[in-house]
Amino acid sequence: MIRVLVPLLVLLAACATPVVDDAEEGEGPITFVDGRDTTEGQQVRELVRRWNATASRHEDVSFVEMPTTTDGHRAQLTARAQDLEDASGGPDCYDVMAVDVVWTAAFGAAGHLVPLDPAEFGVERMLGEAVRTAASPDGGLWAVPWRSDAGLLYYRKDVLDREGLRPPTTWEELRRQATEVAPRYGLKGYVAQLSRYEGLTVNAAEAIWAHGGDLEHPDSAEAKAGVRALAEGIEQGWIPREALKYDENTSLKEFQSGGALFLRNWPFAGPRLAGGESRVADKWAAVALPGPSALGGWNLAVSRCSANQKTARKFIEFVTGEANQRLMARRAGFAPTLRALYDEPGLVSPALRDSLLDARVRRPSPHYDELTSVMQESLHHVLERPDSVDESLDQLAEELSRAEQGRR
Ligand code: GLC
Repeated sequence: MIRVLVPLLVLLAACATPVVDDAEEGEGPITFVDGRDTTEGQQVRELVRRWNATASRHEDVSFVEMPTTTDGHRAQLTARAQDLEDASGGPDCYDVMAVDVVWTAAFGAAGHLVPLDPAEFGVERMLGEAVRTAASPDGGLWAVPWRSDAGLLYYRKDVLDREGLRPPTTWEELRRQATEVAPRYGLKGYVAQLSRYEGLTVNAAEAIWAHGGDLEHPDSAEAKAGVRALAEGIEQGWIPREALKYDENTSLKEFQSGGALFLRNWPFAGPRLAGGESRVADKWAAVALPGPSALGGWNLAVSRCSANQKTARKFIEFVTGEANQRLMARRAGFAPTLRALYDEPGLVSPALRDSLLDARVRRPSPHYDELTSVMQESLHHVLERPDSVDESLDQLAEELSRAEQGRR
């Protein structure tokens, strides 16, 4: 009996997990996942279409869209961690994944990604800060930098021109213009991403930095002043209360429909504001934020489950190569990761260049995930209660140091 059963079990196991020989050199159809394509004219889908039109038929790429926010995107990938690590190359594998700069390293360390060779992708030609977000501890790469990101302050140029005002360069000017000018035009003052998710950490970090503080010391007087500026803005009404529910897309829609004087957003917003659905297409302009921006961006990684890793790498080369980075900068507003593209006249706006040059890493830490979720919880609470800023940020500092030591 045993003699019959053992080979049968072995056979069954082999059927359940077809072993992929040589996945590293495998060529064939692959799946590519990115967040929901919110670019003007759906340029990410276009990019995939261009690949499918030119690559050989058996290397077709199917595009799968994750939720809009980075948190939702990551949660869905994590929920499928088992599929991602299953080296059998099953149909559920997401071969190429866009991963946020803030969670690339953790995702790699968790075992979901195939290490890549930096030399294969010419990363020495890319922005150093962007490459550092994708570096693995052994000097390799978890992913290839695709697009960088830095915040911009979009404003109603028609309104400020009529008032003879220049766009604000400090939070105090921002507050004053949002308070005094916006209501005269029936506009909300300043909209940003204050929902409880990663965008809130970004917006709070930027307010804190602009006031001279940092995320390492949220209990400092400067950090408290930064958070208080946001909380009081909501209390005083120059930041609409709805912003507590806004992410990138919803805040953009508010400004795009002509509802607000100022918007903080990433550069993809530019082509959307200039596009067909915009009611302010010829009425806006953008400058660097009144303070340093958080460094954002997305890298492209190959999943451990991929049976067609050669195709996956070729696709990443195609997407991160110069021609497509130039096209995505032009059409989708993406900040390229290739340094040379910053020297091409008219491709990257001076505002975006300035913002990127000054951009900061949110809070460098191997426990960033823990830290940001602690911050989001506390900050969202504080924004609804400006009188609790002192006490809540003191408490946040303690919680963060516990989380930093991995014992929340
Ligand atoms: C953008 C940035 C990303 C950031 C996210 C926050 O997608 O590129 O780095 O984490 O916004 O909402």
